[in-house]
Amino acid sequence: MSAALDHTIAPLSPHTGAEVRGIDLREPVDEATRARLNRAFVEHSVLVFRDQKLAPAQMLAAVHLFGAVFAQHNTKFALPECPQIHYISNQDFFPDGTRYIPGEGYHTDHSNAERPPKATVLYAVELPDRGGDTQYVNMSLAYEELPARLKAKIAGRQAIHVYQSRYSARKLMPLPDTARVPDFVAHPLVRTHPETGRQALYLNPIRTEGIVDMDDAEGLPLLAELLAHATQERYHYRHRWQAGDLVMWDNRALLHKANGDYDMSQRRYLYRVMLQGEVPV
Ligand SMILES: [Fe+2]
Repeated sequence: MSAALDHTIAPLSPHTGAEVRGIDLREPVDEATRARLNRAFVEHSVLVFRDQKLAPAQMLAAVHLFGAVFAQHNTKFALPECPQIHYISNQDFFPDGTRYIPGEGYHTDHSNAERPPKATVLYAVELPDRGGDTQYVNMSLAYEELPARLKAKIAGRQAIHVYQSRYSARKLMPLPDTARVPDFVAHPLVRTHPETGRQALYLNPIRTEGIVDMDDAEGLPLLAELLAHATQERYHYRHRWQAGDLVMWDNRALLHKANGDYDMSQRRYLYRVMLQGEVPV
C-alpha cells in the first residue's frame, strides 16, 4: 500500500515552512506524491514530516525522494553503521573541554563547497524537554525587500567562502585528515534558485571571508549590513521540534541556526543528511 494516501501539506508561517502529515516515510511513495512533495519543498523552503519512526537506513532511503546524497565534510560525525548520515549532538566537546553546540549562529550549510548541498535533512532521535529550536530566515524575501541602494551595491558581486572564516564568531570542530574540503570558493552574493527562478541573498557569517574585488574596509561592513537586514524578525520561521520530526530545508533560500538555550544535561541528538546541489549562479 502507498504511504501517501490522504496526506496533507499545510503552511507553518506566511512565508516559510509547511507541515506534512499522513505520510510514513518507511513506506513507498508514488510518483505523483513524490513530485508534489518536491514542489512543496521548493515552494515552502522547509518541510516538516511529523510522526516518523526511522532507522538510519530508512532515513537514507526516504531522502532519495528529493535527490542524491551529498558527502558531508567532517567525517568525525559520520555514523559508523551508515556513514552517509552524520549526527548532530550536544554531547561533544572541543579539545579544550568546552561544549560544542553544532549550528549556533546563522549560516547556510557547507557553502565552502563548489556545489553546496541544496538541502539539509534532520531527523530527531532524542530531544530536550524544551528549547533547542531551529530558526530560519527567508533569504528570498530578504533579498526582495532589500533597499535598492544595497541591491545595486551587491549586483554581480561574489563572496569568498572558506571552511572556517577568520571573522566567524563560532568556531568549528577541527577537521580530521579524511575531510573533503576545498581551500576556498567564490559564490554570488545573490543567487537564482534553479527550480523557482527566485533570487535570494547568499552569505554565510561562519564561512564568508570577504567580497571579491572589494577591500575588507568596505566589504565586511557591507556583509554585516546584509546580515542585519536578513535576520530581521519578519523573515523568521522558528521550528519547535517534536518527537518524530523529520525536517528538511532549502539551503539555497534560507539561513538557519540552532539554539543552545536548553538544559545541557539532556541529550539532543539528530541524524543529518545533505542532498547534492548545484553551482550557485
Ligand atoms: Fe547547519
